Amino acid sequence: MADTTVQTAVREKYGEIAKSVANASCCGPAACGGDPITSDLYSDAEKQGLPADAVAVSLGCGNPTALLPLEAGQIVLDLGSGGGIDVLLSAKRVGPTGKVYGLDMTDEMLALARQNQQKAGATNVEFLKGTIEAIPLPDHAVDVIISNCVINLSSDKDAVLREAFRVLKPGGRFAVSDVVVRGEVPADVRRNMELWVGCIAGALEETEYVSKLTAAGFADIELEPWRVYHVDDARAFLTDSGLDVDQLAPQVEGRFASAFIRARKPAATACCGPACCA
Ligand SMILES: C[S@@+](CC[C@H](N)C(=O)[O-])C[C@H]1O[C@@H](n2cnc3c(N)ncnc32)[C@H](O)[C@@H]1O
Repeated sequence: MADTTVQTAVREKYGEIAKSVANASCCGPAACGGDPITSDLYSDAEKQGLPADAVAVSLGCGNPTALLPLEAGQIVLDLGSGGGIDVLLSAKRVGPTGKVYGLDMTDEMLALARQNQQKAGATNVEFLKGTIEAIPLPDHAVDVIISNCVINLSSDKDAVLREAFRVLKPGGRFAVSDVVVRGEVPADVRRNMELWVGCIAGALEETEYVSKLTAAGFADIELEPWRVYHVDDARAFLTDSGLDVDQLAPQVEGRFASAFIRARKPAATACCGPACCA
């Protein structure tokens, strides 16, 4: 699908969600409340102490802040930060000497995230406007990249991974939650914009995800599906998509999963002499 068409549809959908936080729905297009993708991702301890709106508009498919230890003083970037839940959780962990950037392209989400930042009193946080395909930060700017159910929404995943690699410091970590595909998915599902903006149709196949990370330069890649969706979940994804739910639901049984994806940008190699560093 064309990049601008996808971005416009994604921006519209998430702008609407941000404007109606009280009715915040979900990453999945139809299922709200008990949504199989976004439910039960954070512990009560994590949710306590966060602004209610940051929790209410949590639209992810995992908890990327739990994927790796964050250390005091680190600089973290959240790709597609939404209402800011993962930014605020990370900000507590990196402390006042660290910094967390949230990057999002949707004005309404950025406004909501900044309100949540203010309510949380987080001074080590900055929300940036921009796209994850062209990250508005210099090379080697961050120690850790997190992201929660956003890379699947991009129609240019190679650009996203290239940019993530560029802005990470050598040795920096990539730790994201994303929806992935396991095997073949019906073409009708792939072409459906409603399912794309609901984090489903744009999901990468597992091995393709690993190939793209490798091509971008990442090492130590691990992809761990932790919540596999079954027919009943698929029915929820397909509702309102205009597709024949009964025909497609069995074909998508077990094909989609939420996964943890971890990788590392290799550390800089020491210069060994004039010839090898030329
Ligand atoms: C499914 S929501 C996830 C939000 C957040 N990560 C969370 O867990 O609640 C997707 C978010 O990513 C943003 N987004 C989607 N595609 C983007 C892109 N190409 N560049 C920047 N932001 C994007 C949307 O505006 C939206 O806020």
